[in-house]
Amino acid sequence: MLVKFYLNDTLVSYDVRPDEYLSETLRSHGIKSVKVGCNESTCGSCTLLLEGKPVMSCSVLTASIENKHVTTIEGIQEEAAKIAYHFAEEGADQCGFCNVGYALVVYALKKNIKNPTDEQINDYIVGNLCRCSGLHSQLKAIKAYLKEE
Ligand code: FES
Ligand code: FES
Repeated sequence: MLVKFYLNDTLVSYDVRPDEYLSETLRSHGIKSVKVGCNESTCGSCTLLLEGKPVMSCSVLTASIENKHVTTIEGIQEEAAKIAYHFAEEGADQCGFCNVGYALVVYALKKNIKNPTDEQINDYIVGNLCRCSGLHSQLKAIKAYLKEE
């Protein structure tokens, strides 16, 4: 079946299976920045933005997003570079597998909640796991990014 949606503001039309998930669709069309870890909605590595809100793309059927807007890391490159800077400054990245998902969640947090409390930050990133580092350095990096104008 053909599904049309906006990928980073460009209209695309992909032929997909009815049971195909968005992570699979995007990766099969070369968007390898979408990482797949658990493939069962528990790690957050496949996070992207759907209509501006973070979703786990391994649990979103591509057939369900007709005419919607999908944002991957390629669509927020300038902000992603700022986030990466703070993660590096705080030593918050090691293997890097979780970083793309974190960057998209943190970007959405900044856009959707002004001056979030620690509790709101923790609630926002609760679905994104990192197997390498403790959350402490990541929280410091996230707060530093949120302070930027
Ligand atoms: S790969 Fe989607 S949540 Fe883990
Ligand atoms: S840096 Fe390796 S999973 Fe997060």
